Amino acid sequence: MAQDSWSDSHARSLAERESFWAEAAAGIDWAQPWDRVLDDTREPLARWFEGARLNTCHNALDRHVVAGRGDQRALVYDSPITGEKRTYTYAALQDEVANAAGMLAALGVEVGDRVLIYMPMVPEAVIAMLACARIGAVHSVVFGGFAPRELAVRIDDAEPRVLVAASCGIEPGRVIEYMPLVDEALRIATHVPDRVIVLQRDLARAELRAERDVDWAELRADARPVGCTDVAATDPLYILYTSGTTGVPKGVVRDNGGHAVALRWSLEKVYGMAPGDVFWAASDIGWVVGHSYIVYAPLLLGCTTILYEGKPVGTPDAGAYWRVAAEHGVDALFTAPTALRAIKREDPKAAKVGEYDLSRLRTLFLAGERADPDSVEWAERALDVPVIDHWWQTETGWPMAANCMGIESLAVKRGSPTVAVPGYDVRVLDDEGEERMPGELDATGHIVVKLPLPPGCLATLWNNDEGCRSSYLARFPGYYQTGDAGRIDADRYLWIMSRTDDIINVAGHRLSTGGMEEVLASHPDVAECAVIGVRDALKGHVPVGFVVLKVGVERDAADIEVELVQRVRDQIGPVAAFKQVAIVSDLPKTRSGKILRAVMRKIADDEEWKMPATIEDAAVLDHITDALAALGYTSP
Ligand code: COA
Ligand code: AMP
Repeated sequence: MAQDSWSDSHARSLAERESFWAEAAAGIDWAQPWDRVLDDTREPLARWFEGARLNTCHNALDRHVVAGRGDQRALVYDSPITGEKRTYTYAALQDEVANAAGMLAALGVEVGDRVLIYMPMVPEAVIAMLACARIGAVHSVVFGGFAPRELAVRIDDAEPRVLVAASCGIEPGRVIEYMPLVDEALRIATHVPDRVIVLQRDLARAELRAERDVDWAELRADARPVGCTDVAATDPLYILYTSGTTGVPKGVVRDNGGHAVALRWSLEKVYGMAPGDVFWAASDIGWVVGHSYIVYAPLLLGCTTILYEGKPVGTPDAGAYWRVAAEHGVDALFTAPTALRAIKREDPKAAKVGEYDLSRLRTLFLAGERADPDSVEWAERALDVPVIDHWWQTETGWPMAANCMGIESLAVKRGSPTVAVPGYDVRVLDDEGEERMPGELDATGHIVVKLPLPPGCLATLWNNDEGCRSSYLARFPGYYQTGDAGRIDADRYLWIMSRTDDIINVAGHRLSTGGMEEVLASHPDVAECAVIGVRDALKGHVPVGFVVLKVGVERDAADIEVELVQRVRDQIGPVAAFKQVAIVSDLPKTRSGKILRAVMRKIADDEEWKMPATIEDAAVLDHITDALAALGYTSP
């Protein structure tokens, strides 16, 4: 059969939107067909497959068992620090999930109830997610590197009936006990879940509170397996919180039907996978990459997925990824550029690659931050496979731009994530909302997607339709605002340049500098502050803080700096990697009082900058330059 070209497929996905996605929907088992493929009259965002009913867990597990994949590997767990490895076939995973669903049901969890999952990268985390899907409950997974306060904010917003946690997680060199963090979060939160299920890990067993906590293993022993409950295609499958422009995270809501269709389709068409292939997304289940490409897409397509509880380096060395890929027969690997940079730094000649048989590896996918051309080139040479940069975000749930390996392999332009994926009508608008045409000389602007968004993208923000509208839809009516700036070239390749808000990407993790500023500003000695993302050779960006102390504060500056760093760690979490702060006498501002963060960032990055005509006091910038020099960023 003749393959569609990318341009044909993309054009068809927009011109014949409903038939395009109805065709893709044939890859999913429906308990009841839809009345309409697309209802784009609904506010704030379109609804897909209205009237249809299905169960996502059935599509991820049960139907594959029925179809004869019961003995195929579904999930392979590899934990290099503990040395533990476990393989679940589709049949075994189905059993575990059915039992875990029984555990939740026994605790009273019903369709639509929320279950918050705060767990490290262990199979039980995936099992808990799928168990929620099985009974129509809505999961919300919180990344383990967040502090109790962040966990508490999510508990209060999602109001889970049950919280599922593990006794500990593992970071190189330390075991992180989770239960003190859970206790603290529940102390801060106002919402009280009915019960906390605790998975005991031998590395650090937790003391359980009899009235609140239940042991996973004990519940499991008594659990009766339960079947799949069909839900509406438009019912929520999960809520995933992501950084917004303030300290208050946004609860991205994903539906069941559109998500299942889009994710299955994307693994085949964007990533070029087929049922039976082995797909490894080296991310964490706490992030969208983990939700989409560790858990849902590989299982929806009938692939084997890898759950790796380790790091790219140090567990034990820079060959870790190649060891895992070889040992488990990985066909395609997805990671963040920062992980490649970490590997390249330790093994610049890629000597470790030669120690493993990577003959099955067909493609390396990179996303989460801009893929710097040096790292792409290094990986191309090291692995001798196509290295595919692709662009998307928590809100969309699957790629907006890519070189679609299952459609047509286009020429790679290093530094560009290639072209819009079918389903996405990506455009660039200037500040006034006028479109910048592909290839125009000054084509840089706000990257937007013309509505409606394809299936699988955010349905709304949890309990916050208005926030969804104001964050994404209000500025450019008729378009979804991605928050990224960039351009489209004459060949229709996208170039992602920067964010248009205060979000920074630290080691592939999305963080809000505004959120960090809120934490610094809450210190009793701080009068005002600014946090900027400064370029970092390993992590892409790292946050650097500047604070002005209140008049009359005479404490030792070094003590205050230590407290400020600790405060961000305690309130946002270690993942913020906030380690540098400078106390300055003033912040550079415009005459109307706006802090000139962009100028500060350019000075830190040694980029060209112009003295703003509206600056209040130019001399302040000299102090900022000196402070940055003292932190090792620029020459004074
Ligand atoms: N639980 C608790 N703490 C965590 C954590 C977790 N799940 N994940 C990270 N942390 C902690 C780390 O231990 C570290 O703490 P420290 O300040 O005490 O050292 C801090 O958060 C920062 O961690 P990290 O960003 O991982 O930086 P690092 O310097 O330890 O490692 C890399 C650098 C590049 C190796 C690492 O960031 C990495 O593997 N990045 C890839 C990320 C990725 O795949 N992202 C996918 C998104 S698509
Ligand atoms: P997250 O929601 O955590 O996945 O982060 C999404 C953001 O990361 C995007 O809006 C971009 O700013 C950035 N990002 C993700 N992938 C890429 C990429 N391939 N190139 C450039 N930026 C990217």
